[in-house]
Amino acid sequence: MQLTATEKAMLDGAAGLAKQRAMELLVRYAEALGADRFVDTDNVAGVPGSSNLFVQKYFEQHAGAGDYETIFSLYDLDSPDVAAIPGAAVNCCHLQGGMDPNHWTEQGMTREALDHQLQDESELNRRGIHVLKTCTPYLAGNVPVKGEHCAWMESSAVVYCNSVIGARTNAEGRESTSAAMLTGKIPDWGFHCDNYRYGTHRIEVETPVESVMDWGMLGYFIGDVVQENIPVITGRIGHADPLRHKHFGAAAASSGGVEMYHMVGITPEAETLEMAIGPRKPVATIRYGPAERRKVYETLNSNGTNSNVDYVMLGCPHASLEQIAMIARLLDGKSVKVPLWLFTSRSVKSVSDLQGFTKAIEASGALVMTDTCSAIARAVPKGTKVVALDSAKQVHYLPAIVGIEAWFGTTEDCIHAAVTGRWTGELQ
Ligand code: F3S
Repeated sequence: MQLTATEKAMLDGAAGLAKQRAMELLVRYAEALGADRFVDTDNVAGVPGSSNLFVQKYFEQHAGAGDYETIFSLYDLDSPDVAAIPGAAVNCCHLQGGMDPNHWTEQGMTREALDHQLQDESELNRRGIHVLKTCTPYLAGNVPVKGEHCAWMESSAVVYCNSVIGARTNAEGRESTSAAMLTGKIPDWGFHCDNYRYGTHRIEVETPVESVMDWGMLGYFIGDVVQENIPVITGRIGHADPLRHKHFGAAAASSGGVEMYHMVGITPEAETLEMAIGPRKPVATIRYGPAERRKVYETLNSNGTNSNVDYVMLGCPHASLEQIAMIARLLDGKSVKVPLWLFTSRSVKSVSDLQGFTKAIEASGALVMTDTCSAIARAVPKGTKVVALDSAKQVHYLPAIVGIEAWFGTTEDCIHAAVTGRWTGELQ
């Protein structure tokens, strides 16, 4: 690999053992990818050094200690020895975690698990890591600029970063983001390179796609057909906004492995079709019409049989302030019959608290939670058999993770289910 003098010094140990181990890991990673150099990054989103009780106990048992530095060294950095972990060298934020720090009892967590999480957070704070605890860092204060090299985990955030913002990241892992946090380096490969970012498949949208639910369904359809490739979407797309992109990208990254998409005339690297495709020749052109729309709706509802709903989960990816405001309006004057948990980031919830949305939502009996979601925390209200969801991504994961049935529909369908305990959603 071609290393700069600074990179070589870190690799030789001049900047301390932790950075040396981080560079060793990054060099192995880059060589495996076929990258011959690094790019500098000043924007890392990961879970540096964090653990749950299972991981902590595993390291206690197998390594003799389960403290933050042991886990960061042996797990994140794949180091043979334990190093003192310094502060973040670059701007670094923590993505979603495993429980809500205020509603952990409802989520079925233990005091021991909460105490461990709080200990983790104090270690993150000491190292200057921004504890955003969200899958939507771009709604919570971490918004890169177009062309900026990032090192992000979390598939829904990665696809948003590349496609909507036009910043550059591969779908990194815990190890590479933790190493990037210490060094400010990431392999110059994949989505960091111009020639990797051109579209591979054309998608022609022939039926109107305007609602948030429709954007989610289109994303789910496209992810399934293109898998890990790069779709270029043209046609009848309306109301492009961050909320719709959030649902579209999360769905496409779930049913497939989409890390970047282009929408012609909408996303920043697709002012024209030619710009989105570049020198590539698309391998296929795929049509999305009313029949495809109906089929994806049926797929997303294929697991629901019992119309008695006993849980409603909203906020996947974590809800924006406008979604929270809308949910407050939809719940105004109503009481929920079954638990409704709405997930968001800490920062969005703080504004929601100040504006009175949280109070308004919780007046109905619903709860506004932060940091996690049902799929990540594996937490649903006790006895849940049937959930109602407005997120294609959550439908993709939650039923399989906790063994329940799921219905998919609009946010309004879900609120209706929360208030009545019945699923009545239909494709309009
Ligand atoms: Fe976020 Fe959980 Fe969905 S972490 S993207 S709300 S699966």
